[in-house]
Amino acid sequence: MPHLFGKRIRLRAAERTDIDIFCRWINDPEVTENLALVFPMSLAQEEHWYEDMLKKPPSHHVLVIDIQAENQSDTWQAIGNCGFFNVDWRNRSAEIGIMIGEKQHWNKGYGTEAMHVLIKHGFETLNLHRVWLQVYSKNPRGIRSYEKAGLTREGLFRQAHYQHGKYYDVHIMSILRDEWHLSDASDDQH
Ligand SMILES: CC(C)(COP(=O)(O)OP(=O)(O)OC[C@H]1O[C@@H](n2cnc3c(N)ncnc32)[C@H](O)[C@@H]1OP(=O)(O)O)[C@@H](O)C(=O)NCCC(=O)NCCS
Repeated sequence: MPHLFGKRIRLRAAERTDIDIFCRWINDPEVTENLALVFPMSLAQEEHWYEDMLKKPPSHHVLVIDIQAENQSDTWQAIGNCGFFNVDWRNRSAEIGIMIGEKQHWNKGYGTEAMHVLIKHGFETLNLHRVWLQVYSKNPRGIRSYEKAGLTREGLFRQAHYQHGKYYDVHIMSILRDEWHLSDASDDQH
């Protein structure tokens, strides 16, 4: 699959050489605070996950979010990953997952931009009809970022997530292809 380019980011296929950095990100409690990952992850487990992923169709492969290294337009740095999973081709619906693993790059708009690029790919290339995700109620940064990317809150799983000894609601957010085409986000700048 060719790289997918945004204004400041690109999405590229994940290589075996990315496994180390993925492992670092998913063992960082601040990064996983709002992810459905509750067990420490070994390098061997992550390698196993990667090999399993390669057996799946490319539409289910995770994509690395790269930004250009400062003052070096030809050098890219991995800051996170994202991708579609639970792709339902009959209903043309897919769930999105995203993680910016380099915490110093939170709140700089990269997550929103990666979502734009992924959603555009979903609607304009994969011919999806609906893109959706789940986000914990205790993750206002995620909710705000997805709203900026054009998703709306469509419902709630009440007290569906247990963590820190209590239950949290889980929001379901989505965007339909018609809404994407009507939004500014579908302009070709992304
Ligand atoms: C969630 C995540 C993908 C968002 O990406 P990001 O690049 O950090 O987010 P953006 O900079 O695009 O947007 C963040 C927005 O949330 C706002 N925000 C940040 N913290 C906030 C808070 N506590 N309350 C309300 N809004 C908040 C920011 O101000 C910004 O909005 P603005 O542009 O209107 O000012 C990223 O932070 C991440 O991967 N976090 C760790 C893993 C995770 O939570 N993954 C998502 C699981 S559903």
